[in-house]
Amino acid sequence: MPKCLIVFFALLGLALAVKFSVPLRSSGSLKEKMVREGRYSEYLVQRKSAVRQNLVDTMDEFYVADIALGTPAQHFTVSLDTGSSVIWVLDSHCDSQNCHEYTLNHTMKSAYNNETSSSFVDANNNFLFYYSQSEIYGLLGKEKVSFSGFSLSNQDFIRATVLPDVFTQQPIDGVFGLGWAPQAELKGVGNPMQALLPQLDQPMFSIWMQRNDGMGSAGAITFGGFDSKACDKNIQYLPLAEPGVWGFTVDSASIGIFSHKQSGKAISASGSGWTGIPDKFMPQVIKATKAKYDWNYELYYVPCSTAASHPDIKLHIGGNVYYITSAEYVLDIGLGNDKCVLAIFVDTGLAPEADWILGDAFIRRYCQIYDFGNSRMGLSKFIQRD
Ligand SMILES: *[C@@H]1O[C@H](CO)[C@@H](O)[C@H](O)[C@H]1NC(C)=O
Ligand SMILES: *[C@@H]1O[C@H](CO)[C@@H](O)[C@H](O)[C@H]1NC(C)=O
Repeated sequence: MPKCLIVFFALLGLALAVKFSVPLRSSGSLKEKMVREGRYSEYLVQRKSAVRQNLVDTMDEFYVADIALGTPAQHFTVSLDTGSSVIWVLDSHCDSQNCHEYTLNHTMKSAYNNETSSSFVDANNNFLFYYSQSEIYGLLGKEKVSFSGFSLSNQDFIRATVLPDVFTQQPIDGVFGLGWAPQAELKGVGNPMQALLPQLDQPMFSIWMQRNDGMGSAGAITFGGFDSKACDKNIQYLPLAEPGVWGFTVDSASIGIFSHKQSGKAISASGSGWTGIPDKFMPQVIKATKAKYDWNYELYYVPCSTAASHPDIKLHIGGNVYYITSAEYVLDIGLGNDKCVLAIFVDTGLAPEADWILGDAFIRRYCQIYDFGNSRMGLSKFIQRD
């Protein structure tokens, strides 16, 4: 074979072999920030006056990444969310205060401006959709989307022009959906993962996360493969409990001497800071931890001095046992008086089909592998601690 052809095939091989990682940053606990600023009670009142606004309940801690849209690039901080399937960012045409201000530190969020981008294409379509039970209104467009040196051209995205008040508490400018297909209201809106998959080494991505209160590395998402430095190579693969949803079956669960024998569907929710458990299991968790209810903050709490000594929540999944330790499910969010909260909720309204919402507390212990090619999920121990 002529030399130039060999070089050509070598280059072609390189061009096809795409695997890249995007670093994640942690926002820290939003509840903690609100409690420390004395704004949490006010938030609870605000939440009650508005239905469907409970983002902060579960999305307490965000693992966010940077993406860019447009030419020249406009930069956004987005939540990478396995539970949704489109890209949306707040738009400069949103003229209400709640679109632009990040109330926790009174800084302005980034808003997308279509007028300054040469790669913007208007799709002349608009949508009303739900994100974590909040109503969002937006305009459909196409843009160049870039992250970590990789880009998708002509990618559908939504410019959000009406957002719920509660959005001001969230340290994000939008969301990048990592799911299979958009929800019913967003039918026809192009899914970024479906656009990305054909270009990847393997049709999959994986995520690891770790606690990081500073601004250092809090995790990474690897597109097209698996991060074998951070994650154990011994992977347990599980069939999806429901086609097109990143999740699997939890056969049973226990905490201390209490057990929950019913099997249930779990979703792997990279956008959820707290752990959602079946309502019938909650009384067991309360008994096992002797947690008390704080009516003012509407949270269950235990003494902080016992935070690390409560029994593990054990999940039986595909013949193996997975653990959520009390160091993960008990959090000090600054309530004071030796009160630490159970970072657990039972509001299944977030994902009506799921009994378990396994978010950051679970993902920090177990790397999650999202395998589109084989319609399955993989779990493996997180091993790197730096
Ligand atoms: C930008 O978006 C606004 C609102 O949808 C639209 O009226 C305007 O024509 C767009 N501008 C360009 C250059 O596409
Ligand atoms: C405000 O918070 C956002 C999100 O956490 C962060 O990106 C930004 O740097 C903060 N700004 C200041 C001035 O602290």
